[in-house]
Amino acid sequence: MFINNWYAACIAADLGPAPVKVRMLDCDFVLYRDSAGTAHCLSDACCHRGASLAAGQCRDGVLVCPQHGWEFAGDGRCVRVPAGIRDPASPPRKARVPSYPVEERYGLVFVFLGDLPEAERPRLRDIVPEYAQPDRWHAAILSRRKDVHFVRMAENYNDPCHVHYVHEFARWLPKGVTIETHQLTDTYVKAFHAAWDARGLTRPDRGLLMEFDVVGMVSRNTNRQPGYPDTVVIATVTPIDAGNTQIFMLLLQPKHGPDGKGGIGEADFQLLVTMTRDQVMDEDYAVLKETRPRLPASPAEEVLVETDVTLAQVRKMTRDYAVRHGEIDARALAADRDAHIRVVPCPGHRAEPGQWVHRTVPLLPVTAAVEQVNLAAS
Ligand code: FES
Ligand SMILES: [Fe+2]
Repeated sequence: MFINNWYAACIAADLGPAPVKVRMLDCDFVLYRDSAGTAHCLSDACCHRGASLAAGQCRDGVLVCPQHGWEFAGDGRCVRVPAGIRDPASPPRKARVPSYPVEERYGLVFVFLGDLPEAERPRLRDIVPEYAQPDRWHAAILSRRKDVHFVRMAENYNDPCHVHYVHEFARWLPKGVTIETHQLTDTYVKAFHAAWDARGLTRPDRGLLMEFDVVGMVSRNTNRQPGYPDTVVIATVTPIDAGNTQIFMLLLQPKHGPDGKGGIGEADFQLLVTMTRDQVMDEDYAVLKETRPRLPASPAEEVLVETDVTLAQVRKMTRDYAVRHGEIDARALAADRDAHIRVVPCPGHRAEPGQWVHRTVPLLPVTAAVEQVNLAAS
């Protein structure tokens, strides 16, 4: 699990003024909307006596702790202590909880869990331009939690060959897949995996266009079949902890044109949503839950072939990103949970060090993280 990345925390339409607790990176966060509708994400543990702010309420735009009523603004600062000090409007300087940058993209609330200042923060890519065209595209969001490592999950969304074997809906498709194009940066990979027909021939409009951006841990699959509208599947993976993953899946298909032609109708789109929700996601899980090792494997201990290049890049770029930006020592974090509140450092930690009461999450020494990258690259 690495810090300094954007992670999808919840579905935007589900978030209102009522505080919601969300576990990410094995830490607890609270999300809510203030009176202007702006979404905020704070560390969930109150800096006073450690109560869960998610058990409180949002009143007049501030988050009110359930235990002694301290009030917190969206930037994490306590703005009022109703009892216990002479001037309720002058809380102690350290009366603050970490607050994290929030961005809403394609129906999801993304949170930046890290301490990089804005100028150095990686940007979320606009990987779903179709979402901004609701008159032209059907869209639906599904949500699942699975006890599978989040990188393992992301590898699966970039594995073109499993589709024909794992998924009932694709069993009739020809089994052959060939990689046709491949683009790569430090954080993004895009590849077209063309499907063979019965004679072993490929064409540019038949296959899976797979994209993955480590920023946000977003995968995009565009399924192309001649004579049928594109199906777009976006999957984000957020580590709840070292062994569990929150998945948000966004499905898109084009609507009929104004003349009633092209695209597909609402009923057919709902069939896709139902099938994905009730069948496809479980078919993946049935295999992944029994796949070993649970952590991303060393390629030296697998036999990878040509079309595995995309998933191998997913694995490598997530490792590289962790080395550059900070890898949580998951064992150390779990070991002292009962004794200490641990928080993911926020941009305020860089700007004003020494002003925080809770300890930050333990990070692996860079050398240990680099060793893991070398293993992944060998
Ligand atoms: S624990 Fe939150 S106000 Fe006391
Ligand atoms: Fe799958």
